[in-house]
Amino acid sequence: MIARVVAMYFSPTNTTKKVTEEIAGVLAANLNCRQCVVDFTLPGVREYVQTFNKGDLVIFGTPVYAGRVPNVLLKYIHTIRGGGALAVPVVVFGNRNYDDALAELQALLGEDGFLPVAAGAFIGEHSFSRILGAGRPDEEDMAVVRKFAGDIYKKLMKDGAPESFQPLEVGGEYPSRGYYQPRDRQGNPVDIRKVKPKTSEACDGCKICARVCPMGSISFDDIREFTGICIKCGSCIKKCPVSAKYFDAESYLYHQHELEEEYARRAEPSLFL
Ligand SMILES: Cc1cc2nc3c(=O)[nH]c(=O)nc-3n(C[C@H](O)[C@H](O)[C@H](O)COP(=O)(O)O)c2cc1C
Repeated sequence: MIARVVAMYFSPTNTTKKVTEEIAGVLAANLNCRQCVVDFTLPGVREYVQTFNKGDLVIFGTPVYAGRVPNVLLKYIHTIRGGGALAVPVVVFGNRNYDDALAELQALLGEDGFLPVAAGAFIGEHSFSRILGAGRPDEEDMAVVRKFAGDIYKKLMKDGAPESFQPLEVGGEYPSRGYYQPRDRQGNPVDIRKVKPKTSEACDGCKICARVCPMGSISFDDIREFTGICIKCGSCIKKCPVSAKYFDAESYLYHQHELEEEYARRAEPSLFL
């Protein structure tokens, strides 16, 4: 019997949070049980080991980075103890493609001792852009999210004991193919890993950027300084109240522009039950 529904996610620009919390909310209401949240976006939370048990249903969300689960999360995900809890792997991607991210997340959660019962890939505004997937997940997406949660509830009621569930087949491959690689104008692979955001004169020193950086990489003493890596998650840029953070590296801007041009069509969610 499910006693608790947990929304657990990494979500620097809040799109994964929105989808994951909605699924958890609908399921907790239907199952008439407790609901709680484990938001592991900030580094302090990832220092604690999370342990679950068979009474838990965990809606586990990550964004798609380069067609995969963000590689900076792998070490942390391996510390989680599923304890036979049911899980719903959820990935949110920026209107390009989720490639192998969902298959990878499902496999990782299985290795942690979770039993995946359903999985979904949804669309969120792209971390690099204000126009690619703008405003998504929007109302249309959220209606799909709620229907998906309702269908998971029906599956749980119909199929009875978790041991009787059929193994879940999701889109993508595992073992995963390579990471998606940005390219330059000539089609050659470019490495944007070292690119970091700049800060304009508009900055009024509120330090929100330092507080929201999921890598804890922006110095509180001088927010123009980096003390660690930048994963280009967009958190400092999209959460800056005066829009003072920006990227100016040619490689990043070209990649952003190319994505906006090439993936302008509306991608749709993929659901697996
Ligand atoms: C480094 C990086 C790589 C990304 N790679 C992809 C990708 O391969 N495909 C895609 O559609 N979106 C990609 N995105 C966009 C995010 O998956 C998308 O914007 C997601 O909604 C962000 O989730 P969040 O709001 O929870 O941070 C990438 C974003 C970042 C920061």
